[in-house]
Amino acid sequence: MTIPAQSSGATLTKDAAPGETLLKVTGLQKHFPIKKGLLQRQVGAVRAVDGIDFEVRSGETLGVVGESGCGKSTMGRLITRLLEPTAGKVEFEGKDITHLGVGGMRPLRRDVQMIFQDPYSSLNPRHTIGTIVSAPFKLQGVEPEGGVKKEVQRLLSVVGLNPEHYNRYPHEFSGGQRQRIGIARALALNPKLVVADEPVSALDVSIQAQVVNLLDDLQTELGLTYVIIAHDLSVVRHVSDRIAVMYLGKIMELADRDLLYKTPMHPYTKALMSAVPIPDPARRGAKSERILLKGDVPSPIAPPSGCRFHTRCWKATQICTTTEPPLKELRPGQQVACHHPENFEDQAPQDVVLLTAAKEAAELVSEDALAESAATSAAVAAEVEAIAEANDEATATSTDEANDEAPATSTDEATAASTDDVTAASTDEPGEEAAAPATSSTDAPATSKTDTPEAPVAPEATDEEPPAKGK
Ligand SMILES: Nc1ncnc2c1ncn2[C@@H]1O[C@H](COP(=O)(O)OP(=O)(O)O)[C@@H](O)[C@H]1O
Ligand code: SF4
Ligand SMILES: [Mg+2]
Repeated sequence: MTIPAQSSGATLTKDAAPGETLLKVTGLQKHFPIKKGLLQRQVGAVRAVDGIDFEVRSGETLGVVGESGCGKSTMGRLITRLLEPTAGKVEFEGKDITHLGVGGMRPLRRDVQMIFQDPYSSLNPRHTIGTIVSAPFKLQGVEPEGGVKKEVQRLLSVVGLNPEHYNRYPHEFSGGQRQRIGIARALALNPKLVVADEPVSALDVSIQAQVVNLLDDLQTELGLTYVIIAHDLSVVRHVSDRIAVMYLGKIMELADRDLLYKTPMHPYTKALMSAVPIPDPARRGAKSERILLKGDVPSPIAPPSGCRFHTRCWKATQICTTTEPPLKELRPGQQVACHHPENFEDQAPQDVVLLTAAKEAAELVSEDALAESAATSAAVAAEVEAIAEANDEATATSTDEANDEAPATSTDEATAASTDDVTAASTDEPGEEAAAPATSSTDAPATSKTDTPEAPVAPEATDEEPPAKGK
């Protein structure tokens, strides 16, 4: 897709170099007070966002996923400062913007824009497209070079709409086209950070990919940084560099995209992933592979003690009810908050007795789904082994010495166990830990250790090669 050159009027210089921290969030909280009675006394609070830390790097796309009610939209509104945080800190380009007033926020309003979920309610039906897309210029008192109309028409063509439709009204457009109008409006002031809250959830599946691809193209062309919120991992999969998984106001896992898909460590991430529709027609009906989450997300008014996911987790043990697991970097590029992570060594190996709730939850986890844990590890291990083999061959052709030494470390261990797939991962690759899916728990999860090298759910099978992000 070609994007017409930008007129200089609304152009801002991009300050943060690619990869540098653009936005940093520390201990961010939003508690909505619950008030009752004539005196409107506060009787409690909805802990929508309850202490999260992350950063967004310039030029990247951070995907944020989680079930409905997990606090994703609240988080999006906090970082765009549409909401005032209860506690914590938001820094944009190194500047503390946590409590900036209207005046202080004015320059920032140009740099940080939001795209909303519902393209029907987010566009005023009484305004023309021209008025809608030009609103940011009026609000900021910006006069683009060549005039507002010319710039708006340029923006319409940038998002794939006919510039001649300037005078039409929102009802004359389809959902996908309306979302393009919302994108054009967000891009008007050439922002640095765009927060898109479920930008395609309200659209037909057939249109979703077009809009996601448009966002991706625009990012490459305009050097944008995105936070894309979705309840579904399939939407953010191809466009994200990193993904944060939220549950009940907390980040459960934050990882590089490929690590997250290949070796998810948090049980909640695994559950979300198994809810992603399987694109391979040969495997479509394979419902039994899914991990079903029991019940709804608990109320954020009184979140469960310890690990918030313990009431629905099939691996929960006693420690999960009492001690909140910190979000820790267990592998370079992968932070996880779990006592008994998947695809990694157990963080609380002393605690092995499953909670009753976990046993019930595990009943909802099919044999296949449990076997997936092993399959995932096996798939990663196989990949790591292939890399190791390729390296060995390369070494073999270069020096005989290296040929003698290098394979010795990996093959010895590989032959020591029955499944060489799994153990052969004992290389220096980051996927190493995946070799032993640590499952401290009893019965049900133990099945997940079953080696099923050809298990149906090896994620590689569903992997369409994600388009190269080119950065
Ligand atoms: N303005 C508000 N007042 C009170 N509660 C709110 C408000 N906005 C959101 N919530 C509550 O905060 C929780 C998180 O909501 P939200 O951020 O919209 O989640 P998500 O976008 O992940 O679905 C929900 O329980 C929701 O009901
Ligand atoms: S194993 Fe424990 S800490 Fe990990 S997600 Fe389940 S309940 Fe939380
Ligand atoms: Mg939402």
